[in-house]
Order: sequence, then structure tokens, then C-alpha cells
Amino acid sequence: MYSRWANPTVAVFERKAAALEHGEAAVATASGMAAIASAILTVVKAGDHIVAAKAIYPSTYHLMVQQLGSLGIESTFVDATDPAAVATAIRPNTRLVYLETPGNPLLSLCDLEAIGAIARQAGLTAICDNTFASPINQRPLDLGIDVVVHSATKYFCGHGDAVGGLVVSSRAFVERCVTEPLRYYGGIMAPFTAYLMMRGTQTMPLRVERHNANALRIAQWLEQHPAVALVNYPGLPSHPQHALAKRQMTGGFGGMVCFDLKGGVDAGARLMNAVRLCSLAVSLGDVRTLITHPASTTHSVVTREARLAQGVADGLVRLSVGLEDVEDLIADLEQGL
Ligand SMILES: Cc1ncc(COP(=O)(O)O)c(C=O)c1O
Repeated sequence: MYSRWANPTVAVFERKAAALEHGEAAVATASGMAAIASAILTVVKAGDHIVAAKAIYPSTYHLMVQQLGSLGIESTFVDATDPAAVATAIRPNTRLVYLETPGNPLLSLCDLEAIGAIARQAGLTAICDNTFASPINQRPLDLGIDVVVHSATKYFCGHGDAVGGLVVSSRAFVERCVTEPLRYYGGIMAPFTAYLMMRGTQTMPLRVERHNANALRIAQWLEQHPAVALVNYPGLPSHPQHALAKRQMTGGFGGMVCFDLKGGVDAGARLMNAVRLCSLAVSLGDVRTLITHPASTTHSVVTREARLAQGVADGLVRLSVGLEDVEDLIADLEQGL
């Protein structure tokens, strides 16, 4: 009848996404944030309470604190690497548990099976942002999570040239999401974007396999580099939750690697200026390797204390490892370091 209601091209992408995430249905949205906002607003209303992981994408945190807060929806942020912290924060008016794994900024993990069970027992809806892992590596719905959200801008698209999002769940949840918040706030996906997303999705299994392999090799290489103090990668035995990663990231450990430089802010800034193959860009999931140093870029506007409180150390560097020849990437990082 009308493309804000439904569109046949977008519907094909939605069916593919639902199949990949093992969901009954999916709805595609204008951006990852539109997916997150729509999924949350399907569950909560004024007076309700959310328990959320504190290690989440900063705009999601902002959405909960500023936007939902002003609508009378309160959120409590907990260290969700500990399922007991989630259980303790549940109140009589809690309706939703919100997770992201691997999470920003240190690639910490949430135990989806354990937290899914806690939410189910308390009669709550559990939502997980699966953007960093992609459905090739991790399927939260199989582990007892009710709803998966994605920034499809990342691994679904894969080429950094379109913005979109996804909500995947039961048919009943997706229908409520479409007919209640999404249709009226209007953040739907355009058909041409769905076409680009489908082109990207066709190669997602192949791309993610290469992202996984390149990231693991680079993480192992960085771990023995004298300029590097610490490497965060779920695929390394040194990651504090490596056993959990092996259990729930059954396809691989993803393309995101974080590391802390011994030389702090100056070393981070120098590396940003020195790399030639890695591109300085804040997104992720692209065919090209993207590198960021939050302390001298995205987080240079917040105080050092606030930044450190968010887990963003002076020398923290985030790599979205791309599909290039891994030896070329290592050579670029070596000359940069
Ligand atoms: C984990 C995660 N979730 C959600 C988003 C938001 O997605 P979008 O930029 O497509 O709205 C991002 C964006 O970087 C992200 O990294």
C-alpha cells in the first residue's frame, strides 16, 4: 500500500536477515540506532525500568539516559560481564535487559545463555546488539535471547557505503515493533539501501571468515610487540572471558581488536599519523581496515577522568580488521609502531 508500511525489496532483505539470525521474522530500519530505539520502545513505556550493560555503544547509552530518560523510562547500567550484577539490578518495574557482546570499548563479553535465563525467569525481554559478532559468529536467539538488533551498516553491508539496521525476533515481537514505534517514528529502510544490504549479505560468510582469521593473526602479533601493553581480543587465551567466547562465538571471534600502547596519548596520535594502509575512520565491518585512537579523536572532548572511567585508556587503539593481505596489514602496523 505504502512503503513506510512495507516494501517488497526491503521484505526480501528482512527474510534473509531473519534466516541468518535463526529468528522467525525481522524488520529493517534506517540505521542501527533506529533498530535499537524501535526494539526498546516496543517493550518499555513511561514508568518502566531497563537494566543495561554499561559496556555499550555510546549512542545507545545516550539514547537511554537522555531520550528515554526524558520520557520517564529509567535505566541502570551494570557490569554485565557478571550475570549476578544483572540479576541484582532487576526491580519490580524492570521490563527489559539490554546487552551488547562483544561490547564497546574493550571487547568484553556477556554470557548470553546465563543472562537470557535470568531475564526469562523474571519475565523480562532480553535484547542483544549483535553488531560486533555478526550472525556468522554468534546467534543470540539460539542462546535464549528474545531480540537481536544490528547496525547493518557494519558486517551486513560490509563495504561502508550504506547505513541501516535490523530487529530480529519472534513474528509477534517484530509485528509489534513495526506497527507500534517504527511505523510512527518512521525510521524505515529505503528499498535501494535494502538492495545494497543484500549485495553485501551474499558475501558476509566469506568476509567474516577472513575478518576472523586476519584479526586473530594481528591480535597474536600485537601481543608480542614491545610497544603494546595489552591486547583485547576474545580469541586470545589471555582474554579474561576466552572460555565464554569459545562457547558462544561458535563461528569465530570477530574482526575487532583493541590494544593499549605503552606510550599513551602521544604514541596513539603518532600511530594514527603513521599508518598508510589502515584508514582513520570510526565505523567498523568494512572491507578495509579502519583504525581509531579514541583519546585523540572521539574522546578528546571529554575529560581524561571521564574517558578512563569508560575504560578508554590513553593509548587505546581500536582496529576493525579488514580483508587485506594480513602480512601487508602487519607491515603497516609495524612501521607505524
Ligand atoms: C555496536 C553498535 N551498535 C549500534 C551502532 C549504531 O549503528 P548506526 O550507526 O547504523 O545507527 C553502532 C555504530 O557504530 C555500533 O557500533
